[in-house]
Amino acid sequence: MLPLDRRSAPNWRAALAEIAPACQTQHVTLHAANLLLARGRLTEAEAAFREFIARFPDQDAVLISFADLLRRTGRETEAEAVLRQAIHVELDRLGCADDERPLVESYIFAAERGQAPPAASPPVFVAGLFDRFAGSFDATLRERLQYRAPEVLFEAVTSEAGRELRDLDVLDLGCGTGLAGELFRPVARRLDGIDLSAGMIEQATTKNIYDRLVTGELVAFLATLDQAYDLILAADVFVYLGDLAPVFAASRRSLRDTGRLAFTVELSDSPGYHLQPTRRFVHHRDYLHETARSAGLDERLLDETWTRLQEGRPVRSWVCVAGAS
Ligand SMILES: C[S@@+](CC[C@H](N)C(=O)[O-])C[C@H]1O[C@@H](n2cnc3c(N)ncnc32)[C@H](O)[C@@H]1O
Repeated sequence: MLPLDRRSAPNWRAALAEIAPACQTQHVTLHAANLLLARGRLTEAEAAFREFIARFPDQDAVLISFADLLRRTGRETEAEAVLRQAIHVELDRLGCADDERPLVESYIFAAERGQAPPAASPPVFVAGLFDRFAGSFDATLRERLQYRAPEVLFEAVTSEAGRELRDLDVLDLGCGTGLAGELFRPVARRLDGIDLSAGMIEQATTKNIYDRLVTGELVAFLATLDQAYDLILAADVFVYLGDLAPVFAASRRSLRDTGRLAFTVELSDSPGYHLQPTRRFVHHRDYLHETARSAGLDERLLDETWTRLQEGRPVRSWVCVAGAS
């Protein structure tokens, strides 16, 4: 081992503080807090978190970790106050207006605490999230998260059809920047897209692949349609809807009798549907089966798959192709 003389060694911490004070606090203190928390050294972790938060009070992910620590050590009231502080940071970032804040706050609180969720993510939350994300969506999802819901969907639709797809009238629900649209364009006679986020629609427009693009809420949009489609797609979109009964019923009304609704959702092992701390819903296969049946749809294909990575691990998902009963 190299000999180490602490008295004569240059003080690298002081040098780092001089050239990059934010880096010193952000990286070293936060890393220490997380490491101590992971190793169960809660008293020391708490001290490191408090030091970090005093300097950077508006980092919601850190506040959420700290709230968890407080909960684990029995300080429920303080934990809730810190969690609400984190949620307010998130609401500011999303640009929520005053009258929208209570709804979004209770949704995020339910996600963090596993409480009974609303039927869907609030539209203002979804639009705010994806408007901010739109410019970097394709690169982040494809390169960092290995996003593959569009490919999974394309393969499922082709395999269920058992023939080459062509000349389809296609509606892309939650079309985003058009990653699924790009795959389905060659087999579409007509391709329409709808999305809540104006920023995502702006990106999709530049790809020049859609016949019609609409900014709006998808269930409300389906209710206004007077035309029928051969294929309605939703790649990684129903994760923002808990109760799928309205979208299944509205899709059935907008499908030709030979048409298909094809979608991916994240998988739940427990019955029904649940809202996760990720702010996304997961669904049980029996829930999909029963809700589709009630809407006049039968599953023609339901396979377990994965659609992207989360914290380096594949997200367990369902891919489903349903047709009129
Ligand atoms: C993860 S992105 C997927 C985008 C695209 N389908 C793809 O595969 O790249 C989810 C998209 O669904 C949209 N979305 C979620 N809920 C929606 C709703 N209720 N109405 C319309 N769009 C919605 C979001 O705005 C976002 O663009």
